[in-house]
Amino acid sequence: MLEITVPVMEPLSGLRRTHSCGELTLEQVGREVTLMGWVHRRRDLGGLIFIDLRDRVGITQVVFNPQTDPVLHKKAGLLRGEFVVAVTGTVHKRPPGTENPQIGTGQVDVIARELRILNTAKPLPLQVSEDQEVDEALRMKYRYLDLRRAGMQSIMHLRHRVTQSVRKFFDQEGFWEVETPLLIKSTPEGARDYLVPSRTNPGRFFALPQSPQIFKQLLMVAGFERYFQIARCLRDEDLRADRQPEFTQIDVEMSFVEQEDVLTLMERLFASVFQECLDYTLPIPFPRLTYKEAMEKYGNDKPELRFGLPILDVSDGVRESEFSVFSDTLAKGGSVKGISLPGKGGLSRKDLDGLGKLAESMGAKGLLSYALTDEGPKSSILKYLSPSSQQKLQELAALKPGDLLLMIADETSRALDCLGKLRVELGRRFDLIPRGKFAFAWIVDFPLFHYNEDTRQLEPQHHPFTSPLQGDLDLLDKDPTRVRAAAYDLVLNGYEVGSGSIRIHQRPLQEKIFNLIGLSMEEAKEKFGFLMEAFEYGAPPHGGIAPGLDRIVMIMAGAETIREVIAFPKNQNANCLLTGAPVEVSEDQLKLLRIRVDQG
Ligand code: AMO
Repeated sequence: MLEITVPVMEPLSGLRRTHSCGELTLEQVGREVTLMGWVHRRRDLGGLIFIDLRDRVGITQVVFNPQTDPVLHKKAGLLRGEFVVAVTGTVHKRPPGTENPQIGTGQVDVIARELRILNTAKPLPLQVSEDQEVDEALRMKYRYLDLRRAGMQSIMHLRHRVTQSVRKFFDQEGFWEVETPLLIKSTPEGARDYLVPSRTNPGRFFALPQSPQIFKQLLMVAGFERYFQIARCLRDEDLRADRQPEFTQIDVEMSFVEQEDVLTLMERLFASVFQECLDYTLPIPFPRLTYKEAMEKYGNDKPELRFGLPILDVSDGVRESEFSVFSDTLAKGGSVKGISLPGKGGLSRKDLDGLGKLAESMGAKGLLSYALTDEGPKSSILKYLSPSSQQKLQELAALKPGDLLLMIADETSRALDCLGKLRVELGRRFDLIPRGKFAFAWIVDFPLFHYNEDTRQLEPQHHPFTSPLQGDLDLLDKDPTRVRAAAYDLVLNGYEVGSGSIRIHQRPLQEKIFNLIGLSMEEAKEKFGFLMEAFEYGAPPHGGIAPGLDRIVMIMAGAETIREVIAFPKNQNANCLLTGAPVEVSEDQLKLLRIRVDQG
């Protein structure tokens, strides 16, 4: 009986890897190679032990034969999933019929001559070798195991390639990468700040940057002209599938430019990144929609443009109807909006009821339908629609036989909002959204301010450094809510993936904007005095943008949430399940910072 004991760890002792586990082909047959990696799977077949050895490049099959080396075969019998090993052996062509065409190394295997067990592994809390659904909390707790899985490795590799491609592009375009500080005075991006107490200045706090906004503008004042940074941003806000408290922006700022320059540069950036990383040719220029068009046609400012079904105004088609929902809504200044669904006129009562429920869950008071079926028009409100009304309705909605029109009558903004949400769900349910397609667009001409009904105050729609459009400057005093901003959002497949603007670079205008959003002169000075002062020392005209790297990689990878494309994400509660952060700290640490925690 051979006695084998596994040392806790066998040393590498000068052993060098000759190849990765993903590169052996028939070309290396007969060569001696050394591979290192993890035991992905072990199979014992007809006396032979087969190990699928995995590294981040691929998988190679290693064979241990009891006939040729019984001691080594016995040792291989000790291997379990995720043991870390080094194997030296000879590359062989696999016997006919045993090849694996699924993997690049499937023509060969390595007949082992030496095996070193570099480390063992306990039975795993989640399977690395199988692509099965695993509870997300468990994945986060054992993120280092989750990240070993092929799907996650390929996403993180894509993210790396996107980042490198972005860096290369900006370098070639003459941009300088500059790091901006993490311990700062607050930047107003609309979320809550993460605060960091200062030990050396008790009672005072730094904020972590919600974005590098102020610093990138100061870099323009500093004469850097073209700046970019793969920048970490931190925002204490409620989390969603596309939001994390820590995320990454491709932060960009340029001097002596107008809106058009920023937009075309970004189009070239993404055309180049998508070509390089996905071999996907993006059509440029990207379509442009004004904020108003986007709201009216798609019900929101981040339209999903991979499919059609725009929202239509059908108010004129029902204006003469006596149906009170229509007449009351229109009398109050609301609208009747609709979506025309080609070929869906035959939907059953039950299907339509289901869609009605769905619309209600999206905030609609009800959903009305009008279909052109083989038996003629069908609608629960048919008797309220005169032939001429129906004619008009059919024209407005461009209805053809077999089509269905869904309508919502409400306050215009609510009707648009509900139909906007319904549209995307209809796209999903009826499988109208092509996979593998990337539909970028620009949304331009945002309002500079929105009016907050609760605080009765104007608030910047983007941030307070955004310049009004030149042509709208005279409206600032007369009717500020009508002023449009030199601001633009980049949208992709229904997500806002970037946002930017031409900035204010002159003190008087900046003061005026602060004043309009209700900051007193003192408050403005106290918060942003340094910036306004900088504007007085020769600030060039400048503008920029910040695409969100996580969201873009998420969409490129076809992932459902940005947690999938962040190596160590937080959960919905902004906790790190792997390390347990945030944690309580010692009394001594608190004392040093002069902080007392109110446990109540
Ligand atoms: P904004 O606040 O619109 O603009 O952010 C720009 C882009 O950053 C991404 N993003 C996020 N991604 C993940 N999680 C979050 N919590 C999150 N918040 C924002 C989005 C968004 O479009 N300083 C300005 C930019 C500028 O004006 O140049 C800014 O930060 O993709």
